[in-house]
Amino acid sequence: MKKRIAIFASGSGSNAQKIMEHFKYSNDAEVALVLSNNADAYVLQRADNFEIPSHVFDRHDFYQTDEIVNLLKRLEIDLVVLAGFLWLIPDNLLKAFPNKIINIHPSLLPRHGGKGMYGDRVHKAVLEAGDDEHGITIHFVNENFDEGEVIYQARFRVEPTDTLEQLKFNGQQLEHLHYPKIIENLLKKYN
Ligand code: GRF
Repeated sequence: MKKRIAIFASGSGSNAQKIMEHFKYSNDAEVALVLSNNADAYVLQRADNFEIPSHVFDRHDFYQTDEIVNLLKRLEIDLVVLAGFLWLIPDNLLKAFPNKIINIHPSLLPRHGGKGMYGDRVHKAVLEAGDDEHGITIHFVNENFDEGEVIYQARFRVEPTDTLEQLKFNGQQLEHLHYPKIIENLLKKYN
């Protein structure tokens, strides 16, 4: 049976797009569900385009009920992939999917991670710190923001002329290239 992936995203979902493209014709795995806390998130349109079902939930559903855990269990999800999802993962979900929830972060963790460090803020912090390298991190998710065990990092040199837009672009290219492959490799390790 194909392994089943659920993607959580709060916004545009360009990473989700790459993952859905990657697994569209795979015999080994499929994106079975896209979930969002934001009914206006563009990722929902992207899921529709792939004819992948989606589910929108609110804070109450997520933190005060088992609705999401039950849904993921009912759909026999093997791996939960966060792709631009901004809420902390509650305990019931962590316990239901031990070592089966991963995230991508647009910096070389532990640099520039933690609460409030997302989007342009991350790249701005890199420029302000004068870092000479930057990159992306794919990691397991735990009860804290951006702190689980690192699975993979990809890095690039920061040039003195680099703007925030350039850093963002370089990072996105790496995310789109690596996230689907890392997911594929992880799934191969599951029986
Ligand atoms: C990515 O930069 C990812 O690292 C971070 O959120 C961003 C999501 O972008 N977690 P997109 O919605 O996939 O375009």
